[in-house]
Amino acid sequence: MSASTLMNDNAPDHVRIFDTTLRDGEQAPGFSMLPDEKIAVARMLEKLRVDVIEAGFAAASPGDTEAIRQIAREITGPTICSLARATVRDIDAAMHALEPARRKRAHIFLATSPIHREAKLRMSRTEVIAAIETALTHARGEFDEIEFSAEDALRTEPDFLVEALECAAAHGADVLNIPDTVGYSEPTEIYELFKHLSETVTRPAHVIFSAHCHNDLGLAVANSLAAVRGGARQIECAINGIGERAGNCSLEEVVMAMRVRPDVFTVPCHVDTTELVPASQTLIRATRTTIAPNKAIVGRNAFAHEAGIHQHGMIADRRTYEIMTPESVGADSSSLILGKHSGKHALFKRMAELGYEPAADEQDDIFARFKALADAHGEVTEADLVGLMEGFSESGARWEVVRTELRTTAGPRPKQFARVELSHPERGRMSDIASGDGPVAAAFAAVQRITRTQAIILNLETRMTRTPSGREFMAEIEIEIDGRQVSGRARGPDVVTAAIDSLLFSLERAHAFAHADPEKSHTATAV
Ligand code: KIV
Ligand code: ZN
Repeated sequence: MSASTLMNDNAPDHVRIFDTTLRDGEQAPGFSMLPDEKIAVARMLEKLRVDVIEAGFAAASPGDTEAIRQIAREITGPTICSLARATVRDIDAAMHALEPARRKRAHIFLATSPIHREAKLRMSRTEVIAAIETALTHARGEFDEIEFSAEDALRTEPDFLVEALECAAAHGADVLNIPDTVGYSEPTEIYELFKHLSETVTRPAHVIFSAHCHNDLGLAVANSLAAVRGGARQIECAINGIGERAGNCSLEEVVMAMRVRPDVFTVPCHVDTTELVPASQTLIRATRTTIAPNKAIVGRNAFAHEAGIHQHGMIADRRTYEIMTPESVGADSSSLILGKHSGKHALFKRMAELGYEPAADEQDDIFARFKALADAHGEVTEADLVGLMEGFSESGARWEVVRTELRTTAGPRPKQFARVELSHPERGRMSDIASGDGPVAAAFAAVQRITRTQAIILNLETRMTRTPSGREFMAEIEIEIDGRQVSGRARGPDVVTAAIDSLLFSLERAHAFAHADPEKSHTATAV
């Protein structure tokens, strides 16, 4: 019987999802996590029902060993894995760290490509094969599963790759991982390679192939899917696609591609897709990072529609512009964002939901005022619509910043103070001073004293952009006031001014909403 017949007879009934958020992801700049944060992510991965969690690289540091041990103690669903170089020391470190795990996997790697052999390892082909044999012989019997990775496999001579993989399989590897370490490959090449390896590599029947694709050319997801079509039965990936350099294959994207296209990907995976957005959010919190609004599956805009033609289609039948439901990935329901591209259909539908049904002869005028508001502020919220219908300010905040002064005390525990002066068309100029644990916090405290409001700041994001005349700052804020969430954004010449303006703008929106006719607005929520 040929090797490929053996493989097909024993192919697992699902594509295994091997998550490396806590190893390849965590080792990338800006993504390091504290032990508690790693545990929170690992719990989320268990909820997602991934098959394997690569919890770290035990030999890298005592901290990594401890984090793997803690995850191995707490997480009982998925197999827990540690990375190890092909050395006795690394394999022993993995063994020790994984000791409490219900099911443990060693992930042993050694580079096989000529550039890595010559420039990094200074090893001949014969020495590489000998090192694989020694390492796997040492690991055999000590773990429930052994995975071998031929690092930089995609730039390895095909005949030597087959030799290295056959050596690993003969010495106990259960999974043969084919990393595109530098994200150099493309889907056709990957498909052909996996097909070739599935048909050529002599191995025990249960041994499967795995893809580990990096995203240097933005092809990691496409390449991983091509690998599955070529015979791979494990995909290595990370939440939000984090990982070395441009990252790894994004878990949420690859999983949803398989879920949405079962006609193409006939072997399913077992991930609970309704946990994808919560998992993405957990990672964002743990790493204090953000993702692009247009990030597939989990980005803020993934189920948001602003263009008038799209909104019209969505109102008629959501399948016109959505290939999956937001609920299927754990996102809030689709949103029709009101902005300058929106049409009358969406505007008057939202108004009706808010309790406003303007007469036909008023609609053109309201639509024109809505467009002016959208031009000025980008997104138009429900609070803005209420303001528009009730005659409140349409031009942004009535409060204006006159001056801000910041001061930091000297000493080992410096404190920040802000003196803010605002002006208001009815209340005139008013100023106050407040302290906080940062200049923005102090300025916000002063603003809230002046405006006599108590808002909880839920989120504040600032960024700098270059302009022809220098630079400017953009602040986007989300606040909660009287149990209602309101957002706002503003630009300014510096971070603090932009942040204060975004706060004043959101307070204005909240104010407009609170003063709307309760009969009309009782069903509305402002965000
Ligand atoms: O990218 C890579 O080659 C790796 C290996 C350690 C699997 O991360
Ligand atoms: Zn990698």
